[in-house]
Amino acid sequence: MAVAVVAMAAAMPVVADAGVALVKYEVTGGESIAKSLTGKPGDAAKGRGLAIHRKKGNCLACHAMPIPEQSFHGNIGPDLAGVASRYSAGELRLRLVDATIVNKDTIMPAFYRTAGLHRVLKKFKDKTVLKAQEVEDILAYLLTLK
Ligand code: HEC
Repeated sequence: MAVAVVAMAAAMPVVADAGVALVKYEVTGGESIAKSLTGKPGDAAKGRGLAIHRKKGNCLACHAMPIPEQSFHGNIGPDLAGVASRYSAGELRLRLVDATIVNKDTIMPAFYRTAGLHRVLKKFKDKTVLKAQEVEDILAYLLTLK
């Protein structure tokens, strides 16, 4: 039992927004969140760091990305090189906030959602993986991938 709990804790992302209410956002056309979650521009350099970070975005677990200094790149999801040419900022924001809105069966984690997450440890309940500003920072980085 103790082993199972430890394994689960290791699989869970570290959670950022303790007790902070979720920013309300509006989904347009079922595929885009046009408005910034924070009203503050994202920082692409920070976003790149968060994307690589194993306990934050951990995007490389599933995606190849133009990040040569990291040796492991996953291939469960599409290569993110050029992703900003394929999607608008609003479409990318939606995928970061909650990719299940566009594909309810996706295995991509909902980075800015608390409701309906499965197998969440008590201490992670009602918390999001990324803070609102961290979503905006990763988005700013993705927008550099033209
Ligand atoms: C557990 C695996 C997993 C993780 C972690 C993950 N993704 Fe994904 N992602 C996917 C899969 C699978 C898809 C394919 C679309 C689907 O499943 O609906 C996808 C799709 C996408 C898309 C759309 C790409 C396209 O070309 O259609 C973007 C953008 C994206 N992910 C960004 C990210 C970013 C940024 C991160 C890190 C913050 C991330 N993903 C973390 C699995 C993951």
